[in-house]
Amino acid sequence: MRKPVIAGNWKMHNTISEALDLVRGVKPQVEGVTDVEIIVSPVYTALASVAAELKGSNINVASQNIFWEEKGAFTGEVAPNMITDAGCTHAIIGHSERRQYFGETDQTVNKRVKAALSVGLIPIVCVGETLEERDSGKTIAVVDVQVKGGLVELSAEDIAKIIIAYEPVWAIGTGKTATPDMAEEVHKQIRSVVADISDASIADGTRILYGGSVKPENVDDLMAQPNIDGALVGGAALKVDSFVRLVKFDQKRSAFK
Ligand code: 13P
Repeated sequence: MRKPVIAGNWKMHNTISEALDLVRGVKPQVEGVTDVEIIVSPVYTALASVAAELKGSNINVASQNIFWEEKGAFTGEVAPNMITDAGCTHAIIGHSERRQYFGETDQTVNKRVKAALSVGLIPIVCVGETLEERDSGKTIAVVDVQVKGGLVELSAEDIAKIIIAYEPVWAIGTGKTATPDMAEEVHKQIRSVVADISDASIADGTRILYGGSVKPENVDDLMAQPNIDGALVGGAALKVDSFVRLVKFDQKRSAFK
């Protein structure tokens, strides 16, 4: 059984007070939800305040990035133990926006994944193809390389801790969602890559989230797919009602997982 994950990636939105308003709206409405892992990911400046507000609740906090060095002259970076110090349990790593705008590569993703694990943070490792790659039939090959590259040199025990998010770049913030079947095909492939680099039972327990224009209208169809174990959500995570609705997706349709 894989516990589903609904994670809100707030990207570069919300000041501290806006962030607190959002979680104060969500928290009472998801109280008592124990069968879904709920995560929110604010900007760095709001992490500590949001984590303090959510302490003792069923909502976990993730950073949107992490640096791999422990400390030192790295102006603008934030070290792994500073992320845990702020109250985070998870770190999003290798989001396509970081790959696209900030030079993230599979090698730097791998360094960040190792750094996160070294302090007990659960990495949410993002992979996904561009439109050009999809149109030229390279989706599976691209995603294979990203998963293997991001998780290289990890022990099976560490691979077992990781959450993977498949986010086709062309579906992010565009309103275009991969159809449930399109997403399922890639998720299934990701699970087989995880089995190749660890073993079948670890792959069977790995949560693989879908991201890219997930909203209340499509979450149930996506979550009903056998290999889709959750969602990493941008825009629809910024509003209380839509995020709560995503957390309360139709579990009856995905109960066989
Ligand atoms: P949207 O849900 O806004 O498409 O963003 C998806 C995403 O990038 C989550 O990390």
